Amino acid sequence: MPAALHRPEPVLRHRAQPVDRTVPTAQAVLWLLEGRSLLVADHFGTGIEILQALRVRLQDPGEDAGYVAKRTFREAFQAASKCLLAPVVGRKVALPGAPPAGFLAELYPDHADFALPVEDARILSSAWEWYANGVHFPVLGYRLHPFYGAYIPARMEHLELFGTWLAKYQGARHRAIDVGTGSGVLALQMAKAGFQQVLATDINPNAIESVARQLRRLKVTPPIELQNTDLLGADRGPIDLIVSNPPWMKGEVGRTLDLAMYFQDGFFERFFDQSLQRIAPGGRVVLVFSNIIELSQPDVPHPIQTELARGRFRLVEKLTRRVKPLRRRTREKVEVWELAVV
Ligand SMILES: C[S@@+](CC[C@H](N)C(=O)[O-])C[C@H]1O[C@@H](n2cnc3c(N)ncnc32)[C@H](O)[C@@H]1O
Repeated sequence: MPAALHRPEPVLRHRAQPVDRTVPTAQAVLWLLEGRSLLVADHFGTGIEILQALRVRLQDPGEDAGYVAKRTFREAFQAASKCLLAPVVGRKVALPGAPPAGFLAELYPDHADFALPVEDARILSSAWEWYANGVHFPVLGYRLHPFYGAYIPARMEHLELFGTWLAKYQGARHRAIDVGTGSGVLALQMAKAGFQQVLATDINPNAIESVARQLRRLKVTPPIELQNTDLLGADRGPIDLIVSNPPWMKGEVGRTLDLAMYFQDGFFERFFDQSLQRIAPGGRVVLVFSNIIELSQPDVPHPIQTELARGRFRLVEKLTRRVKPLRRRTREKVEVWELAVV
């Protein structure tokens, strides 16, 4: 395992007060809000109940809320929930009812016994379930098994739209790049479409680990080269097709997975500068995007339109498609932007 993988920080020393079902959850929540460390002593479910009560107390605004409301809640929840610990013994959560979290054995070769915030233990175990069972990607026709901390798309329409675009692609198929590969789906789509060499980059080492493991699972290894790097990474020669499904909204990056959701100032400028230097004659830059930025951040300049206005690239084609709502009705559309150098 590469040493640099992201993992929840193990708590090696603490003086946490034990809590069990005899402690009223409202009391436990108050202690957490005061910053007092608590160690769940009887059952994993006790920890989950306390976290649920904490969510209610902090008025979780829900997934459909705006960026600021979600962020404010998340910061308060993270600050309080990190004080609620679960014991880990022999790299297993040592509480009855704790779901399996095989990543504990993989991510903590240096420690066997420690404590983890219950919330981190919960995230590790649900990540393990995704990893063990896999997620079916109809655009590939098989399951991907995302490693802990690698991005998994919540919907598939944008991948299908990219597949529609790719099926019509007439250009050269020597070298392609998937910038910000996540669990590898776009790189695998391009390899399936016959590209001779596909580079897949990601700044998140867990994403690179995820795709490396995925490649080892496949019977025929696709010609995908991985780089844990910023944006396009090292120069391997001119690229016919530069593809990215970048973060769709502007925002601050706290957790590793925020890198998949939020971009910061300069991200797109650097992406387009590098693309201009590396694109092969007649090549294309394709961005898988969404109108979510126009709907939820109307004050943020549109990063692709801003680049087009600079006159270095022209828009060849833009495909759009409505998405099925994940929770409630939505005006969201996914998009594929095809750009060529002017
Ligand atoms: C929206 S996700 C897309 C993942 C995958 N390509 C997909 O379509 O499901 C964006 C990805 O870009 C990565 N990323 C963010 N900033 C990056 C950067 N500066 N360089 C390389 N990758 C980056 C994130 O870690 C994340 O995996």
